[in-house]
Amino acid sequence: MLVVLKRDSEDVGREAARLVANTIQIKPTAVLGLATGNTPLGLYQHLIELHRAGQLDFSRVATFNLDEYLGLAPSHPQSFHHFMTVHFFSRVNVPASNIHIPDGTISGNYDSYCGEYEQAIRRAGGIDLQILGIGRNGHIGFNEPTSSLASRTRLKALSRETLEDNRRFFSSEEEMPKCAITMGIGTILETRRILLLATGESKAAAVAKAIEGPITASVSASALQLHPDVTFIVDEAAASELTQKDYYRHVLKMTELFTPERLL
Ligand code: PGA
Repeated sequence: MLVVLKRDSEDVGREAARLVANTIQIKPTAVLGLATGNTPLGLYQHLIELHRAGQLDFSRVATFNLDEYLGLAPSHPQSFHHFMTVHFFSRVNVPASNIHIPDGTISGNYDSYCGEYEQAIRRAGGIDLQILGIGRNGHIGFNEPTSSLASRTRLKALSRETLEDNRRFFSSEEEMPKCAITMGIGTILETRRILLLATGESKAAAVAKAIEGPITASVSASALQLHPDVTFIVDEAAASELTQKDYYRHVLKMTELFTPERLL
């Protein structure tokens, strides 16, 4: 695992954008796995700027989003569809037919819908680069604590902690989604490369458990220790509970020296 320590959220976004842009420049038909939330906003902003400057073309890129709330239509202001439209897709040139986001309006036949989402990922050739945030409880996507480390895309009940984090976005208890469709941990582990971004002190405990703790279903992000190509890009506040920061800096220096292609 590579742990890249950055000063603040601005630097995290810039570094993540550099890696995503490199991926697309090397492979213009790249398949990206995308995340929502506060954390990747800087990444999307930098990608939009590169696109506007004529330096990044998304016309052959395909995307798969990690998750969507059950019960929210794409037009709902708190849906992940809406988030992606506003913060990214309306401002770059990913063709609409190449954009995949789980449909929060399905009712019934969840397993077959989720199986089709997995099929679509396979038909696209698999995900080349997966962007992840991390929840305070260590979730990736909506793989809440105790999710199977082998889980696939499925309907998932949200944890109390996630519901609390979401409360501020909804006007009433009834309106708050209780479930989501999410790619599974097994699905995420099949992607070719993973970038996990984390910023702010509220993520420090989860980041430390994910990187330095045991692999456990109680911390979904700890499953990333099983992946052969994962990079954590973490700001100072989110890195504050890591115990081996000097070693991570040393690893990065040695990587720059001996295998710089891993940093493209
Ligand atoms: P955030 O969410 O980026 O809004 O903190 C991350 C997550 O819960 O996965």
